[in-house]
Amino acid sequence: MKPALENQVAIVTGSSRGIGKAIARTFAREGASVIICGRKQETLEQVAAEPFDGPGALIPHACHVGRADDLKRLVEAAHQRFGRVDVLVNNAATNIAQEPVLKVDEGKFDKMVEVNLKSAFRLIQAVAPGMCDRGRGSIINIASIAGLRPQYHGMLYSMTKAALIMMTKSYAFELGPKGVRVNAIAPGLIQTALSEYYWNGEGKLDAILAQQPLQHLGQPAEIAETALLLASDRGSYITGQTFVIDGGRLLP
Ligand SMILES: NC(=O)c1ccc[n+]([C@@H]2O[C@H](COP(=O)([O-])OP(=O)(O)OC[C@H]3O[C@@H](n4cnc5c(N)ncnc54)[C@H](OP(=O)(O)O)[C@@H]3O)[C@@H](O)[C@H]2O)c1
Repeated sequence: MKPALENQVAIVTGSSRGIGKAIARTFAREGASVIICGRKQETLEQVAAEPFDGPGALIPHACHVGRADDLKRLVEAAHQRFGRVDVLVNNAATNIAQEPVLKVDEGKFDKMVEVNLKSAFRLIQAVAPGMCDRGRGSIINIASIAGLRPQYHGMLYSMTKAALIMMTKSYAFELGPKGVRVNAIAPGLIQTALSEYYWNGEGKLDAILAQQPLQHLGQPAEIAETALLLASDRGSYITGQTFVIDGGRLLP
């Protein structure tokens, strides 16, 4: 079978580690040229140098997704090198405000919106016109189950992820007729640096697994395989959806 993303050009934000790195490596395994992005060029170069099986490539490009100029340069670099972007994964996110709602201040509100939400808007606005002109493209926004249910002391994170899910549906609605598919993935708990607080510590993992039908801690690769489906023609009839990948945690 031919690689699912042969000759495709992808941008994956926040791909220096965790879920974004797993998505980038999976796409490269399937033949894509993947521009990987995070804040430190040196870390990205280390990621790009790690071996993987497959015909694609990982191209490091440092970018702070909360900065409009950085995002502009990222897209320009992709266009200069490849002339197009076929797949965009908005994955980079932060959580700087895990605290009671009445402690949340405006500075954190603005920063969380800038990094978790506006970055996706800015990148979609920059790459989607080219996708529409070519009549094809796939955009994947990494949301969270926290965008579907409120997370205690996590208002800003939940709010940005809920908005990302609605942004996904709105773009899917309008860009579908132009051949551009837009979907979201809402992971549950996945073993990464971002979520370490929840799973690393005496009894924490056992407490989580007690609420979850599938009895293991989710791994970044389990998100990456769904991203591959959505990015490739194998997902050609899917748009506007949010895929909950949470080991069944939201079932009860
Ligand atoms: N892990 C979970 O349980 C879980 C659950 C639900 C949803 N998610 C979502 O999954 C996505 C990936 O999370 P993760 O768990 O893989 O997190 P992670 O391991 O902390 O990785 C986050 C990535 O984003 C990058 N990043 C952070 N801030 C950035 C910025 N301002 N500009 C550019 N890059 C930035 C980081 O790179 P640098 O630090 O090198 O810049 C890193 O590559 C996020 O959208 C998160 O909300 C995760």
